[in-house]
Amino acid sequence: MNVQKIVSAFHRQFPGAGEPIVARAPGRVNLIGEHTDYNDGFVLPMAIDAQIMLAGSLRTDQEVHLYSLDFQSGVQFSLQDLKRSTTASWSNYIRGVCAMFLEFTALKGMNIVLTGNVPQGAGLSSSAALEVGTALLIRNLHGLDTDAVALVKLAQRAENEFVGVNCGIMDQFISMLGKKGHVLFLDCRSLEYELVPVPFAANNAAIVVIDSAVKRGLVSSEYNLRRSQCEAAVEQLKQDLPHVRALRDVNTANLDLVEKLPSDLRKRARHVITENQRVLDAAKHLAAGNLQEFGQLMNQSHASLRDDYEVSCGELDLLVELAQSVPGTYGSRMTGAGFGGCTVTLISNEYIDQLKDVVSEHYPRQTGLQPRIFVFNASEGAEQLA
Ligand code: GLA
Repeated sequence: MNVQKIVSAFHRQFPGAGEPIVARAPGRVNLIGEHTDYNDGFVLPMAIDAQIMLAGSLRTDQEVHLYSLDFQSGVQFSLQDLKRSTTASWSNYIRGVCAMFLEFTALKGMNIVLTGNVPQGAGLSSSAALEVGTALLIRNLHGLDTDAVALVKLAQRAENEFVGVNCGIMDQFISMLGKKGHVLFLDCRSLEYELVPVPFAANNAAIVVIDSAVKRGLVSSEYNLRRSQCEAAVEQLKQDLPHVRALRDVNTANLDLVEKLPSDLRKRARHVITENQRVLDAAKHLAAGNLQEFGQLMNQSHASLRDDYEVSCGELDLLVELAQSVPGTYGSRMTGAGFGGCTVTLISNEYIDQLKDVVSEHYPRQTGLQPRIFVFNASEGAEQLA
């Protein structure tokens, strides 16, 4: 979808509504640093060239009229009575963002048309993209001066408090602040970040994302359980290390203290602590263009998520093993929250077809599921296009 098309669709849907502005926000793939964001740790995500696009204009009343081009369905609500919808659940991300703005400013009603090509329910953050795109659209339509990081926090709160998913800050942050040709190294405590140029194309390599097609059923209960286990591990580690506020404050030199924790807490903490170190190392290897070392860390990350954090599943493990069996693969791992969703693989361009063949041959046969395979480039974060 391009700007002209969404603007024409807007005029068809809302004749006489005036000229809309157009905003876009991308999905993301996390290269390394999984389940570290809510432990105040480090992440290394990349904005992908799949996005949500919205065209919107102001109304004179307090009504919001939405139309999804993808679902070919519309929904209306009042800013004076924001409630979660059970029938049009996609609209809850937009309602939630409105609710967060209304905490500090008045809003006018809006007409909004939206469309997107971020695969949904695949762990590529289509919901964060929708929240961030909406936040940018609303800010710009109302001429507010809310800065990018404040919009990120607002979008995350919409998901936590309105939609009711207790996610960390990574997905909204990368969707807002990603940069074309770069990955984003983020310190999730200070929110300081660095954009690292991707050395993939220069090294004749690419990022391939494979959707396992496993419906991520357990994700929110297991996600919340992992979060509480990390907090419980922090409480216990404080006895030996009083300065510890989050697992981020424990480094690999203190792993001997972690070994004293009860089994499940030990494994969870060990993953987070070693993963944070892997992100720091990975960012250095990436900046140095060392894809070999970077790929090794991706492989180690997967093993840790599978064995210690226990958020992988047979289908993701199979996809990772298949990718690792292809000679041009530098590294492969599950990405996102887990229990389904996607894997991410760094691979030499000339082996991508072989990877596709191996996956298409073995994965459906062993799982009964049809994988979807994407080659993504690092794209620009959210922006107003017109
Ligand atoms: C989901 C959450 C993120 C992050 C990842 C795991 O994508 O939305 O905040 O916690 O899981 O790394």
